[in-house]
Amino acid sequence: MKSIAVLISGSGTNLQAIIDACSSGRIPDAEVKFVFSNRKAAYGLTRAQSASPPIPTDTLALQPFLKADAQRTRIDYDLEVARRIITGFPDSKIDLIVLAGFMHVLSEEFLDVISGVREYETDKRISTPIPIINLHPALPGAFDGANAIQRAFEAYQKGDIKGTGVMVHYVVKEVDRGAPILVREVEILPEDDIAALEERMHKTEHALLLDAVKKVLSQEPESISS
Ligand code: GAR
Repeated sequence: MKSIAVLISGSGTNLQAIIDACSSGRIPDAEVKFVFSNRKAAYGLTRAQSASPPIPTDTLALQPFLKADAQRTRIDYDLEVARRIITGFPDSKIDLIVLAGFMHVLSEEFLDVISGVREYETDKRISTPIPIINLHPALPGAFDGANAIQRAFEAYQKGDIKGTGVMVHYVVKEVDRGAPILVREVEILPEDDIAALEERMHKTEHALLLDAVKKVLSQEPESISS
């Protein structure tokens, strides 16, 4: 059984799609074992706790973490998040980390911990690199960062683009720029309002993310690119 950690910040509809796909067998032999959020109010945490069996969750917000100690930096936060994710799997190794609407940019130091280059605790390193993938509601190279759907909608109205898309990519330190795993185009129709486009995008995301999770889990760790 493969073990998945999912990082979220919000509603968690994509997390729910992964949980359901693991239960139904659409993603075979896999389980969401841990959910982390950088926002305590993220509804996705309730989804995890309501799953059967309930999925362990953890939260840590950046600002309170920094304010608790003047010496702390954003990198310390990322290292603490990495430590919590890894130690959240006391009995098994993590096969995949999925960023599903996780609205915090992870540093190179975080990536070093999950690739086993850097310790997560004194004298402790993971032995097998953990692949980490991100869902982003735009085509590669277009609309990096937040509010990508809204920005694509506005660009369409100005005549700058004809359509948009969704991608799942490996995470690198540059935001939304890692090698794409799967990409799917999404049409924008002249009669669309933002709600109609968002609905079409989310439907595409829920399907594409499951295919990408399945694809990455079926690869041998050695063949994982980053
Ligand atoms: C999704 O649309 C996802 O693509 C986006 O956040 C939303 C989360 O929805 N992620 C990004 O914009 C990352 N740059 P959800 O909480 O309902 O899964």
